[in-house]
Amino acid sequence: MRISLQEAAHLLNTGSVVAVPTETVYGLAARIDHPEAIQRIFALKGRPRTNPLIIHVADAASVLPFTSQLPPHFDTLAETFWPGPLTLVIPVNDTVPSLVRANLPTAAFRVPHLPITRQLIEQTGPLVMPSANLSGRPSSTSPEHVEADFGVEFPVFDGGVCSCGLESTILLYQGDKWVIGRLGALPQEALTPLLGYTPPFLVPTSTPLCPGQLHRHYAPIARLLLSDKPQKADYTLGFTDRHYPLTQPLISLGPSNDPETIASNLYNALRTLDTLGAHTAWVDTNFPHTGLWQTINERLRRAAER
Ligand code: TXA
Ligand code: MG
Repeated sequence: MRISLQEAAHLLNTGSVVAVPTETVYGLAARIDHPEAIQRIFALKGRPRTNPLIIHVADAASVLPFTSQLPPHFDTLAETFWPGPLTLVIPVNDTVPSLVRANLPTAAFRVPHLPITRQLIEQTGPLVMPSANLSGRPSSTSPEHVEADFGVEFPVFDGGVCSCGLESTILLYQGDKWVIGRLGALPQEALTPLLGYTPPFLVPTSTPLCPGQLHRHYAPIARLLLSDKPQKADYTLGFTDRHYPLTQPLISLGPSNDPETIASNLYNALRTLDTLGAHTAWVDTNFPHTGLWQTINERLRRAAER
């Protein structure tokens, strides 16, 4: 059920869970001070309680009541990249409910770029929201995706199609430097000038920096065959400007010189495979591995895991 800004604010302020657009992906939102609504988010998604949530605030100053210890560069990172697709993990005090942070001494914060989302947060206060998808499945980048996962009656604040289409980049302060816990819509290289070093992405192991990286992710039901050479499959996921010799139908990701467009189409393409009942798809991975492509490549690798 598509709802307006005013309806979304009313539902959130009276303890409901609502799907909310951001520039990255749709989120399943609850007010940070409504524990029952937060519990419902975990139940709706089938999300383990060990996986903490991101707190979405209207501006950087709204982080201050939750913390007494800001890591170096926090202010300049926030000034430069907020509002935008960067999440900062920082030490917090007990005002952040333990359910939100999975009992960790830290919590993740982000100021979303989409103006209607910030207008909503101004009316509700900080909102916790994970991506609005069933756990393990591709994130939602349109109201239709949210409805496919949670039903047409589920309240969705309609913000159209997400402009980035990939989740935020997550930065954590470890030891004496920032590291990337999750690649995202803000490319790794974009952080170098400000920090004076490129924050490393630590590939998730059995104890990942972001607990959520432990779980299977972004995956369609269809099996993805990643290769820079044509592979026989039910469908090809590829680029509009390439000629593919195979007879299998093409699901287009966009032009191969435009990673922003590819990023914004990626989850829709993965979800389309399932709508079509595909068993297999060849993904053309003949693309660079720098900038936003690095995130696109990582998402495809995770989506292809079995
Ligand atoms: O773009 C986004 O970040 C979207 C939109 C809705 O803002 N949200 C999103 O949320 O992707 P979710 O829940 O799907 O992913 C949040 C990630 C998880 O991997 C979680 O483990 C990590 O953030 N996270 C949250 N709090 C953390 C903390 N204190 N320490 C380390 N990782 C944390
Ligand atoms: Mg998610």
